[in-house]
Amino acid sequence: MSADLSGGVGGPSALEPLLAAVLAALAEGAASRGGPLPAGLPQDIAAAVAEEFGAGGSPEERAAASGTGRDQPLSRLTRLLAAGSADPAHPDCAAHLHCPPLAVAVAADLAVSALNPSQDSWDQAPAATALETLLLRELAQMVGYEPGRAAGVLTSGGTESNLMGLMLARDRVLGGGNEGVNGGADGWRVEMSGVSGRPRGRILASAAAHFSVQRAAALLGLGEDAVIPVPVDRNLRMRQGELAALLGACRRRGDVPVAVVATAGTTDTGAVDPLRACAELAAAHGAWLHVDAAYGGGALLSDRLAPLLDGIGAADSVSLDWHKLGWQPAAAGVFLVRDSETYASLARRAVYLNPADDEEAGYPSLLGLSLRTTRRADAFKIAVTLRTLGREGLGRLVDACHDLAVAGARTVREHPRLELHAEPVLTVFLFRYLVGEGDDPAVLDRVNASLRRRLLREGRAVVGRTELPGEGPGRVRLKLTLLNPHTTPAEVERLLHAVVAAGRAEEDLL
Ligand SMILES: Cc1ncc(COP(=O)(O)O)c(C=O)c1O
Repeated sequence: MSADLSGGVGGPSALEPLLAAVLAALAEGAASRGGPLPAGLPQDIAAAVAEEFGAGGSPEERAAASGTGRDQPLSRLTRLLAAGSADPAHPDCAAHLHCPPLAVAVAADLAVSALNPSQDSWDQAPAATALETLLLRELAQMVGYEPGRAAGVLTSGGTESNLMGLMLARDRVLGGGNEGVNGGADGWRVEMSGVSGRPRGRILASAAAHFSVQRAAALLGLGEDAVIPVPVDRNLRMRQGELAALLGACRRRGDVPVAVVATAGTTDTGAVDPLRACAELAAAHGAWLHVDAAYGGGALLSDRLAPLLDGIGAADSVSLDWHKLGWQPAAAGVFLVRDSETYASLARRAVYLNPADDEEAGYPSLLGLSLRTTRRADAFKIAVTLRTLGREGLGRLVDACHDLAVAGARTVREHPRLELHAEPVLTVFLFRYLVGEGDDPAVLDRVNASLRRRLLREGRAVVGRTELPGEGPGRVRLKLTLLNPHTTPAEVERLLHAVVAAGRAEEDLL
């Protein structure tokens, strides 16, 4: 019956036939797609979705249906979803930090969906509360934090984690925030705006930092333009000398450097900012150091790549995303702070969730660690994955993706019609197709942008497209983000040859 529940002793047997239907539909949908994404234009896909979503029996037929038949919405729409997905498990789907999840993580996540624990109070998640706390201790240790002193929480991803890091930075450096549980002081607002003539709070982040830093600054009342972009080198790594100079200039102007944001693994090149130098400079200027390791945090799993993140343990706060280089279904963001005392401004007392007498009686609460209230037990799938593969097993997957990027970059370097931007640091690299006749930068941009759309339209490949920092034409680059450890170097080579073929086809249209 379609109103069966997923929990309780009877839940699994209600789920079993439904899961069998979902698994069959996933296989059928993937087979009918036959490639990394559905061929066609967005309007073609939207029309197919509208048709399937609009179809279905009468209300009476639906009420009588068991939900498991091939023609039932569960099967039909799952087939549609699978056939219409950009599937990161396909070797030709390599544009974004969009990883193919491990089957074991998805199975673990199913248990969470079935039981629906919510992390905002112990009485909605007794075991999941304890597990999240233990997992975070382990992750804190991986970052180099003292587990007994650090604190953290699972988040929706790097965007939320960056916001939290900058919020705590604002409250520590400029004061105010939540002084004591639900105390609330808002002195920072005046200082933030700069209109009162008081010092203005500033954030220093590289020009290649994730755009969520500017969004966070806006949300925190600092204004997007409070973020001072620090120049980067060719591989988009922050220039340490420029950071020192900009921090000095900020202070001389009378502004307050609230935070330095260092990126460990930029979205486009995987560059890791000089973390130790950032920590020293931030400390010397009284600023908070937030390390956005949403992507590069995965390197901590690999003995080979972990040294790239040397110094991360000196950060005041860190973002890590296990739905990037960690093979988890979204969301699996992690936010950590080095010192739990700096978390005070988020503390909350909600009498229906974490009354003081419950806490005194030994009932723990994660409420004051998160910006959210209802919160999924995203820690569970990470915990299962860590215990199943271990750091070593996951490290091998990271190394395999790094090897693929190195091999792909070699193919690009050796191809006369491709140009590599820079050697890969992690598992991503930028490149472009070179037009046979001439090197007009505007033409190069146009051909590279349109060859990517051609690959999408044909359902042939999902390749990334970005632009280098700066002004004017000639900055468009293609990007391969290699997150599928089962892809082979030969498959990456084939994908690059498909890029060249699409480039030639676009050139013919010039
Ligand atoms: C470096 C970096 N930080 C933050 C983010 C935002 O992460 P999320 O999409 O999980 O919010 C991204 C996303 O790609 C990223 O690359």
